[in-house]
Amino acid sequence: MKTIRIAIDGPSGAGKSTLARAAAAALGFLYVDTGAIYRTVGLYMRDHGVDPRDGEAVAAALPEVRPELCYDEAGGQRMLLNGEDVSEAIRLPEISRYASAVSALPAVRAYLLELQRELARRNSVVMDGRDIGTVVLPDAEVKIFLTASARVRAERRCRELEERGTPQPFEEVLREIEDRDFQDTHRAAAPLRQAEDAVLLDTSVLDFQESREALLRIVRERTGL
Ligand code: DC
Repeated sequence: MKTIRIAIDGPSGAGKSTLARAAAAALGFLYVDTGAIYRTVGLYMRDHGVDPRDGEAVAAALPEVRPELCYDEAGGQRMLLNGEDVSEAIRLPEISRYASAVSALPAVRAYLLELQRELARRNSVVMDGRDIGTVVLPDAEVKIFLTASARVRAERRCRELEERGTPQPFEEVLREIEDRDFQDTHRAAAPLRQAEDAVLLDTSVLDFQESREALLRIVRERTGL
């Protein structure tokens, strides 16, 4: 059976994971959050005292890092690191910084490429990340570049942090988002950029339902589903 691949790329905080998960549920596809895989590598390096910017040290440790994806009954993605469920641990802000640093290393990107492609060979997927449409699945049937202004993304993130009971000042959150944007778009290895054949979806003035509808419309137009 031919699988359908939907690639969603964009900067952090654009709502990729929420929207990609919702689209996958609507379509009955597997949702693959590739950022979680980079976070898992970041977590391993933190736990083992490896400097995430030291390319040689990270490359030497990589063979010991076995990330695995599995799914709970509700279809939620769980991340395993060497057999241990690390789905919560990878969400710590410190791990965002580790993930961003290790994701700039070509050895890490190469190490994770096949795992991502294999998932898309075996299932119809909605896969989100930074280089899905450009590198991981260049032949994806649908490519979407999902973005929103940095201020809107910072506002959304602030609301999320408040709901979690860990509020942070707006200016600090905005600065973190801008720093990560800069790192993710300026790295030499697979920088974040819109694929030529990707559809741009800017959600700055859309709420969740409107964004979800817009995304599903693009998918339907491109695939006839
Ligand atoms: O989407 P996220 O914030 O969970 O991603 C964590 C880090 O991993 C982020 O700094 C960018 C990086 N990443 C990447 O380089 N390529 C991907 N396909 C997904 C994430």
